[in-house]
Amino acid sequence: MSDKPSYLGLLNAIAVGELGGEVLFNEWAAATPDENVRAVLQTVALREGEHAKSFAKRINELGFSVIPKDDPGLPERCSIAGSADLDDCEKFQRLGFTKAPADKDIFSNFFDDITMDIQTGELMGRYVSEERDTGRMLRSCYAAISAQNGSTTTIEDRLQRIECALAELAAATSAAAPKAKSKR
Ligand SMILES: [Fe+2]
Repeated sequence: MSDKPSYLGLLNAIAVGELGGEVLFNEWAAATPDENVRAVLQTVALREGEHAKSFAKRINELGFSVIPKDDPGLPERCSIAGSADLDDCEKFQRLGFTKAPADKDIFSNFFDDITMDIQTGELMGRYVSEERDTGRMLRSCYAAISAQNGSTTTIEDRLQRIECALAELAAATSAAAPKAKSKR
């Protein structure tokens, strides 16, 4: 068996996570009545599935196999994505695809391991770039349907969205607030 690369766990986590993402976005695409939203979700689902396969292939080339892992949060996220009772706006909000990360994103430390080989590094670069682009696509899709819904939703819906936005803002503000220094 080959020497085990120190970044194998990261590759495995990506392969497993992207497979879950493919399921989630396919369920959502099948549930949405909006063809523009469906087009975005199908693109994202294809990317997720391709990422899962590409990382499984790279793990195989390195002499190992993907170790499947249960994601305990996935069933709940999939039930939100496939729900017939929630609209797309609510799904974006509940699944957390409405706003850009305040500072660094979860991919920022994916290149911290300086032993990563060239081929894996190339794959990782494409993967991270596509994930960030996916984030931008989802946020702009959310902005478009929010603007559309703005003219047709009830006042209760709008108040609920304002509450949601305020809660997100409060969370972002408290996360970004500098720690108070003691004057003593
Ligand atoms: Fe992903």
